[in-house]
Amino acid sequence: MKTTTIAASVALVLGLSTVTAAQAEDVEVLHWWTAGGEAAALDVLKQDLETQGVGWQDMPVAGGGGEAAMTTLRARVTAGNAPTAVQMLGFDITDWANEGVLGNLNSVAAEENWDEVVPTALQAFAKHDGNWISAPVNVHSTNWVWINKAALDEAGGKVPTTWEELVTVLDAMKANGITPLAHGGQPWQDATIFDAVVLSMGNDFYQKSMIDLDMDALSGDEMTEVFNRMEKLRSYVDENFSGRDWNLASSMVIEGSAGMQMMGDWAKGEFVKAEQTPGEDYLCIRFPGTQGSVTFNSDQFAMFGQDDGDSDAQLKMASSIMNPVFQSAFNVVKGSAPARTDVPNDAFDDCGKKAMSDLAEANTANSLFGSMAHGHAAPAAIKNAVYDVVTQHFNGELSSEEAAGELANSIEAVL
Ligand code: GAL
Repeated sequence: MKTTTIAASVALVLGLSTVTAAQAEDVEVLHWWTAGGEAAALDVLKQDLETQGVGWQDMPVAGGGGEAAMTTLRARVTAGNAPTAVQMLGFDITDWANEGVLGNLNSVAAEENWDEVVPTALQAFAKHDGNWISAPVNVHSTNWVWINKAALDEAGGKVPTTWEELVTVLDAMKANGITPLAHGGQPWQDATIFDAVVLSMGNDFYQKSMIDLDMDALSGDEMTEVFNRMEKLRSYVDENFSGRDWNLASSMVIEGSAGMQMMGDWAKGEFVKAEQTPGEDYLCIRFPGTQGSVTFNSDQFAMFGQDDGDSDAQLKMASSIMNPVFQSAFNVVKGSAPARTDVPNDAFDDCGKKAMSDLAEANTANSLFGSMAHGHAAPAAIKNAVYDVVTQHFNGELSSEEAAGELANSIEAVL
């Protein structure tokens, strides 16, 4: 009897300690990667962590661009129940770091020499006050156009390199009876196109208006022209565009019911998932007039407050994310470029190779800019002001001139 009791107590203690150990080796990951290509990429990370004995508790919050995920994050942190690892973009990371709630990844960063291999543009967000606070998993860029190859051939076959040529192709696609522009009417998607159109007015203009937030640039004639172009693009979307998710718009291009989509290279994850081949089934081009320039965003994972310091699981996750072999495997599926400069491009398709070389070139030529639509040009309050104006104008509630004026006013109000 006594022996049994002891054995039972031992088992209980062992059992409990097993549970504790299992929990210590778990990460709860809040993210918004719920579309086909995104989920496939996330699986690469999940499986990688599994091989290291790190368990995965999934906390998906659907909604492209991550606005809904950030609302959930705020609620969880306020309730004292922060997830351990969170997908985040640019200035959101800085905002949370300023609140002093992010874990410190210095030990693993020093051991693995992150300082040497992560591009400076990403370090600007991944480091705060000299400390590593997040692990960048990729670099996306927003000034891409994804074109159905057969639809382009039927529309004359000429790859557009200027705004005028783009309009010619879109007109031809319209005449051929397809939806020229696959788009989902959601503020972040409207703003993603807006990024590219602003950049098509020149690097200096993007810098002045989106990064420096110069009031003259925000309200002037060039910005009115940007909105005129947005209005023109609006005329090429189908009547069911409102509220459509971005990946459904990608499907329209994949199936050929639409000619093209203007979207960041997470869209390529959908083409990869559908087993389409660049150059044969579809083309990836830079938004006409932005060749040589890149508006980027980088998904990073920040670790949230564990009272007893960062857990092993969090550090293991950070280390896995930065592993060069993982960075290749993950980004091939995600459609993005690696967040390190030393990852070979062999495994990437032609669009992936172009993403990597464009990025390197833009970085040297000073034509690499943070994306406004994806939180890398300005903090959320400003980004949201841009979303509001761009969407109101896209939906016909403001003229182009009014929109330019309103853009400057609403940004000034939150500065
Ligand atoms: C971006 C994010 C991408 C992709 C996209 C659509 O903000 O950086 O990884 O997920 O949203 O959801």
